[in-house]
Amino acid sequence: MTTTPAPAPLPTSRLGTTAYAAAAARAAHLEVDESPHLLVDDLAASLLGDGGAGFLGYQRAYPDEPVLATARLWAVARSRFAEERLVASDARQYVVLGAGLDTSALRVAAPSGRTAFEVDLPGASAAKLTALAQANVVLPDAVRLVPADLRDPEWPAALVDAGLDPTEPAFVACLGVTMYLTPDEVRELALGVATLAPGSELVLDHVLPAGLRDEVGETYARGVAAVAAQVGEPWRCEVAPRQMAAFLSEAGLAVEQAVDLADAVAPLLRDRTDALRPVRIAGVVHARVPAPSPRQAVGARS
Ligand SMILES: C[S@@+](CC[C@H](N)C(=O)[O-])C[C@H]1O[C@@H](n2cnc3c(N)ncnc32)[C@H](O)[C@@H]1O
Repeated sequence: MTTTPAPAPLPTSRLGTTAYAAAAARAAHLEVDESPHLLVDDLAASLLGDGGAGFLGYQRAYPDEPVLATARLWAVARSRFAEERLVASDARQYVVLGAGLDTSALRVAAPSGRTAFEVDLPGASAAKLTALAQANVVLPDAVRLVPADLRDPEWPAALVDAGLDPTEPAFVACLGVTMYLTPDEVRELALGVATLAPGSELVLDHVLPAGLRDEVGETYARGVAAVAAQVGEPWRCEVAPRQMAAFLSEAGLAVEQAVDLADAVAPLLRDRTDALRPVRIAGVVHARVPAPSPRQAVGARS
């Protein structure tokens, strides 16, 4: 008698709670913070559905509450930092790692003629497709969803399978993701980015350790990390900018900037009268895949 193995169960189509919270923070920024906005994500609200409506409701009800204001500040400041560098980059390919409900591929990359690849866990990618369809957002051919687990060192191969040209530079954004990986997994992720074509760029953010957080940052970390752990997304990595820069350098990346996000964004907050403050909670790094040294280039040719 032959037996047919049971088909593998389909991944649950589900976005994590933190992906909804981040998208709600971007949507709320346009409603509760004053102009000029740090980021205009005019698609975020339409993608929230039932999963994110509650977060947007909290943001609307308590816009001055420091933890909620910090959530908005962190979400929009890291995207602003990444998108400014994407616009300035020569890379014609854009990769979003741990995309969640991020809309930069639709708002910035595709309209500027770039091909975009959004990587997320299979269930999250499936749920994003549903969210886009329910919002009547048509995904252009230039934006491709790539289901993959960033803990699997083979994730760059999934990009190539989806059409990424490995001989051409890519701009990689990894926002709101490293805290859900262990430090070793973040190092491994950096090794994966280092396999991309020379000239490829990476922007990522990370949680600062307790000693580098200010009072509001500490309150945010205690409260939000506890809630995230309860919903199955515990924080696993908290490092100083210098430490994150070391991870990336050891992986072979050239670090161009590794700073406290509060310092990066402070000039934009100087004259504001809303609740946005440069809270010390996260670091942000911009790095590049260097050109091979002449000796490596000769070795590659021989
Ligand atoms: C806080 S959300 C951030 C989403 C988006 N980058 C943003 O800024 O709104 C974290 C995202 O990382 C994704 N993620 C976490 N661990 C992952 C992994 N091992 N592989 C792929 N994606 C992962 C989650 O599914 C989720 O969409």
